[in-house]
Amino acid sequence: SQDDRQRLSPRPKVSVEKYLQPFQLSPETLQEVSARLRKDLLRGLGKHSHHKAPVKMLPTFVRATPDGTEKGDFLALDLGGTNFRVLHVRVEEEAQKVQICAIPQEMMLGTGEQLFDHIATCLGDFLESHNLKGQTLPLGFTFSFPCEQLEIDKSILIRWTKGFNCSGVEGKDVVQLLKEAIHRRGDYHIGSVAMVNDTVGTMMSCGYKDQSCEIGMIIGTGTNACYMEEIKNVKRIEGKDGRMCINTEWGGFGDDGCLDDILTEFDVEVDKTSINPGVHIFEKMISGMYLGEIVRLVLVKMTKDKLLFKGQISEALGTPGRFETKFISEIEDGLENAKKILTELGLDWDLVDASVVRLVCDTISSRSAYLCAAALATLVNRIRNNRKLGHLKTTVGVDGTVYRKHPTSKLQKAVRLLAPQCDITFLVSEDGSGTGAAMVTAVAQSSACVTASRGKTRIKAAFVSTNARR
Ligand code: BGC
Repeated sequence: SQDDRQRLSPRPKVSVEKYLQPFQLSPETLQEVSARLRKDLLRGLGKHSHHKAPVKMLPTFVRATPDGTEKGDFLALDLGGTNFRVLHVRVEEEAQKVQICAIPQEMMLGTGEQLFDHIATCLGDFLESHNLKGQTLPLGFTFSFPCEQLEIDKSILIRWTKGFNCSGVEGKDVVQLLKEAIHRRGDYHIGSVAMVNDTVGTMMSCGYKDQSCEIGMIIGTGTNACYMEEIKNVKRIEGKDGRMCINTEWGGFGDDGCLDDILTEFDVEVDKTSINPGVHIFEKMISGMYLGEIVRLVLVKMTKDKLLFKGQISEALGTPGRFETKFISEIEDGLENAKKILTELGLDWDLVDASVVRLVCDTISSRSAYLCAAALATLVNRIRNNRKLGHLKTTVGVDGTVYRKHPTSKLQKAVRLLAPQCDITFLVSEDGSGTGAAMVTAVAQSSACVTASRGKTRIKAAFVSTNARR
């Protein structure tokens, strides 16, 4: 009853602390994490160390950020976050038409052919409903998985991450698979295609508004970042001058065991029961696909040890995946939310339970923010060192539900601590990575027809090219 609930049955503070302490990372530990990542960035960039490097540091063929004057009319696809989206983007008008299509879970685990047929159908329906079927528009394809990019329109999937695991796609050119699916339908055409990672799309769309944006960061279903690196440091690419955007794939940090000392038993369990055990260890400590499950496992353990809910695990709490990541921010928002969610999960809670649960949520989401801060600090410090600057002022374009829904003050404060000579502005992407993908497409298109139709090209800045110099 309500009376029971109000009655406080105090929990020994030390017991609660025992569960939370492994998640609390000191500034020194974060500094150490940042130092380890610094080494891994170098391994990823190296010609001979790359193939074994857990942080892949993938070249993107994007050689400059926008200057804000870009124009054009494009289609964009965005696959890999919470939703699959089809967009029609007019860059100069900031106009967008967007359609969200669900990707059913069985399709995320089905065959590649089914997935790409579904994508081609969604695009076809979109073109139909917006009267665009007769046009041949260039297409920006945001594909948010690690890919070895061979050209702007040739990109080999290294591995699926997050909830996807479609057969017959790893090792294949994803642009080709998309084109084949469109060809199978045969009822519409698309123009040139440019493939980008969502981090790159985010950096480009934020860069359109703020020209000092040189980093794109995602903390959503998955986590990752890209940044502008000096080409002379990218040993797998020929050329010495200028910069190229590198997709770090920092989610893979720790895949060689270098973070084992900070993993908790709950992280190990989440990894073990995921669809891709052993890979994307850093991502599994940070991103939305996993945070809820970490909290659930901690709560289950505390309940088994009779610290919560009078020792009774409800069916919902005992079910993997039932504690959604969105509950974390809702619970952190207020005690009333916490009570409501605990009731919905069928738990017999009292007020102390509710506040302990809030503490657990706060501890796990804070760790996520601090780890991201350590990784981001590594990138800004690297950019500053690359340019031999005493002080760096830069902007980070950010997107992702986890970033949007959680207080960002912890992340920002920790980055300031870990990168004291860098002054960072955080710019949340308003339109996802669609516009950014479209912008990359624009230039891919302009470089493809550079001799044939330069006059017709509506894009000013050639910030993408497939040859060494800009
Ligand atoms: C993928 C990245 C992507 C990130 C954020 C990760 O799982 O490997 O390519 O940028 O999620 O969506």
